[in-house]
Amino acid sequence: MQRMLIMGAASAMAEATAREFARRGAALFLVARSPERLQAIAQDLRIRGAAQVEYRVLNARETGAYLQLIEDAASALGGLDAALIAHGTLSKQSECESSVEMLYQEFETNALSVMALSTHLANRFEAQGYGVIAIFSSVAGDRGRRSNYVYGSAKAALSAFTSGLRQRLHARGVHVVTIKPGFVATPMTVGFKKGFLWASPTAVAQPIARAMIRGTPVLYVPWFWAPIMWIIRAIPERLFCSLRL
Ligand SMILES: NC(=O)c1ccc[n+]([C@@H]2O[C@H](COP(=O)([O-])OP(=O)(O)OC[C@H]3O[C@@H](n4cnc5c(N)ncnc54)[C@H](OP(=O)(O)O)[C@@H]3O)[C@@H](O)[C@H]2O)c1
Repeated sequence: MQRMLIMGAASAMAEATAREFARRGAALFLVARSPERLQAIAQDLRIRGAAQVEYRVLNARETGAYLQLIEDAASALGGLDAALIAHGTLSKQSECESSVEMLYQEFETNALSVMALSTHLANRFEAQGYGVIAIFSSVAGDRGRRSNYVYGSAKAALSAFTSGLRQRLHARGVHVVTIKPGFVATPMTVGFKKGFLWASPTAVAQPIARAMIRGTPVLYVPWFWAPIMWIIRAIPERLFCSLRL
């Protein structure tokens, strides 16, 4: 896995994961909105051992630019072995309840744009007969909760989408990795009260890189979120309605 496209490369978890691959001498094509952040991250990754780092400024909602983006990344790196899709927004649930526009925007950013990019990547990787597509879903997608069910349902759509995509590409040499982080302290969760279940981006980066290298289908990270979500999913709906989760 030496040539990788990273969408949402300024994300704290994507940056920490990119460092894992830089250390292994990978060539990286970073995509994000901020040219300043891209420049700084690229410089850091070169120092950490990346064989090559290129970058492109793009808003993830510009889905019409994706096909060309993939072509450009592949031609800059001499091919493409893997992609990590990390961009996302966690808007206020209350705003999504009062604004349907906001609800649509959450789905566009967190689900539809990711599906669009992974569809183009899937077709390319299927044709070449190898590749890895890793996508950040979330434990929030495992069960809708009152506090974030718009974000959570967009992530649930991604979990279902990647499950189907994985099955489609299974016999074609292409791996699809669904990453389901629990609570991770990043800019996205900056206003949240932190407790013992929280992890740092650095702590989750190594398991994510390992899952991409191994082609792990679904990764709960840190690992203890797998049993936690198993229990949460098992709670009967009537009881779940009365809980303040
Ligand atoms: N942190 C958690 O607890 C947690 C838990 C489960 C899943 N996740 C998921 O993990 C992924 C990474 O998030 P993170 O925690 O590392 O948070 P983060 O550091 O805040 O990263 C989110 C990134 O998404 C980018 N982004 C948002 N909208 C974009 C757009 N329209 N175009 C391009 N980039 C856009 C942001 O870019 P700017 O820097 O330009 O704003 C930011 O770099 C996300 O998909 C998130 O939903 C996070």
